[in-house]
Amino acid sequence: MRIVIAIGGSILLKEYDNKKFEEYAKIINEINKEHEIFIVVGGGRPAREYISVVRDMGLSESICDDIGIQVTRINAKLLQLALRDVAYPAIPENFQEALEYSATGKIVIMGGTEPAHSTDAVSSILAEYVDADLVINATSVDGLYDKDPNKFDDAQMFSQVTPDKLLEIVSTNDNKAGTYEFIDKTAIGIIKRSNIKTVIVNGNNPENVRTAISKPIGTLIVNQ
Ligand code: UTP
Repeated sequence: MRIVIAIGGSILLKEYDNKKFEEYAKIINEINKEHEIFIVVGGGRPAREYISVVRDMGLSESICDDIGIQVTRINAKLLQLALRDVAYPAIPENFQEALEYSATGKIVIMGGTEPAHSTDAVSSILAEYVDADLVINATSVDGLYDKDPNKFDDAQMFSQVTPDKLLEIVSTNDNKAGTYEFIDKTAIGIIKRSNIKTVIVNGNNPENVRTAISKPIGTLIVNQ
C-alpha cells in the first residue's frame, strides 16, 4: 500500500528529546519494507509558542500560520535526520516536490505548505495527490469521542465516523493559527471528496501506527 503517516508535533516533541524521533524512525523503517510511505510532521508546542510571540506583535493570522509552517518543517527535518539514508534529504514545500522526491524510492517527509489549515489538511491533500490507499494520523488522543474524555467518564469513542458527522462535531472548533483542534475542516473536506480512508490513532505509542495498517484501532473516518 501507499500510506501517508501524519505525526503530530505534540507527539514527537512531548519531551523535547530524541527518543520519540528514534522510536518512530524504527517503526517507519519496518513499515517501509512492505509499504510505500510519505510522512507529514506537525508543529506541536514549539509551533504554538512561536506563533504566540508573533501574534503578540499584532501580526495577522496568516503570518502566524507561516511561522507555524516553518516550525513543522524543522520538525520534519529532525525526523528525516533520525531516518538517515532511507529518507529523502530535503523537505518538500509543496505536493509536486513531494511527488518528485518520492520517485527516488526514498521516504518523503514534509511539514506544512500554506496558511489557513493545519498539517491534517496537508496529509489529506498529499494522500489525494499521490493517490494513497490510507492515511494514519498519529495524534495525542485515542480517537474521536462524543464528548471530552478528560471531563466526562461516560465519553464514548467512535470506532468509525463519516466525514459529514465529523464536520458536524468539529464545526464549533476554533480556526486560528496553532489551534486547529482534533482534525481541521479542510482535511475533512478532502477526505470526503476523495473518500480517503483515514485512521486516527494515539501516536504516543508508535506501535499503534503499525497496528492501524492491518487491524481496527482508533477512529476510522470513511464515507459510508
Ligand atoms: P500543526 O498541523 O502541527 O497544527 O501546525 P497543530 O494543530 O498545532 O497540531 P500538532 O500539535 O502538531 O498535533 C502548526 C501550525 O502551523 C500552521 C498552523 O497555524 C498550525 O496550527 N500551519 C501548518 C499552516 O498554516 N499550514 C500548514 O500547512 C501547516
